Amino acid sequence: MRRCYWDKTNLKIFQVAVNLIRNLLYLIHAMENAMLQLAVETAIEAGKFLRMNVGKVLHIERKQGQETNLVTEIDKKTEALIIRKIKSRYGSHDFLGEESGGNQRASEYKWIIDPLDGTTNFTHGLPIYCVSIGLEFNGEIIAGAVYDPNFDELYSAEKEKGAFLNGRRMRVSTTSKLVESLLVTGFPYDVRKNADRLLPHFNNFLMEAQAVRRLGSAALDLCYVACGRFDGFWEASLNPWDMAAGVLILEEAGGKYTDLRGFPSSVYNKELLVSNGKIHDQMVEVLKRGMN
Ligand code: IPD
Ligand code: CA
Ligand code: CA
Repeated sequence: MRRCYWDKTNLKIFQVAVNLIRNLLYLIHAMENAMLQLAVETAIEAGKFLRMNVGKVLHIERKQGQETNLVTEIDKKTEALIIRKIKSRYGSHDFLGEESGGNQRASEYKWIIDPLDGTTNFTHGLPIYCVSIGLEFNGEIIAGAVYDPNFDELYSAEKEKGAFLNGRRMRVSTTSKLVESLLVTGFPYDVRKNADRLLPHFNNFLMEAQAVRRLGSAALDLCYVACGRFDGFWEASLNPWDMAAGVLILEEAGGKYTDLRGFPSSVYNKELLVSNGKIHDQMVEVLKRGMN
């Protein structure tokens, strides 16, 4: 009888512990989901602000002494809008924004923001640009939202919960041959100084793939691989704000992300190769050839 009493007590304690853990996990999920929701709402609001301001740019500056590296007052205002909105809910979090830089390392959470990915397109009225907001927790990207205000397309993902385009689950393509693949790439603003290093890859892929495009918005390039419009994307010199949200979206859509040699990478590493996974090794082989 006594043994049975203890068994019942232990069972009760076990059940209480299980419930506690379940509630805790639910709470963490709800918190992180609330952060994704905020990223989504903010990206949409910022994207609409960008669209409203097409053709209204008053000041164009050149960054880092590079004639082709533009920044407008709209990039800066959009970033300020995004940070203000997120700070009003999560005042203690860290931020890394393209235009305002990073702040201290005070929080486990860091919002990584590109307020306008595709500035060159934007200044010409070419409707290929977007807003990108990624959220890092202890060094790992856990949520991301990319909004394209011209197509009204919202790409979003949460770690281990799949990737969505306007709320519908999305997957990478199933193309398995490079010769049948549509690829995309981009070039950094200092391409002229590094043409010998960058152009061989472009030439080689032109010869090996079905076709190669260059859209001018790395975040959209990533999302387009994620939803299967492109089969692969490489670029040699990107920044964390170009990649943070898009890389998570790509991986959650079943895509593969490495450096140009096929090794694991991080958004703090400048180079990036992403694909549907099936053509990844073929892309690595072509890239290696261009490195000699
Ligand atoms: C640029 C775009 C472009 C890529 C450049 C990025 P920005 O970002 O993503 O596609 O090729 O490397 O710097 O300057 O328009 O935010
Ligand atoms: Ca960018
Ligand atoms: Ca930008």
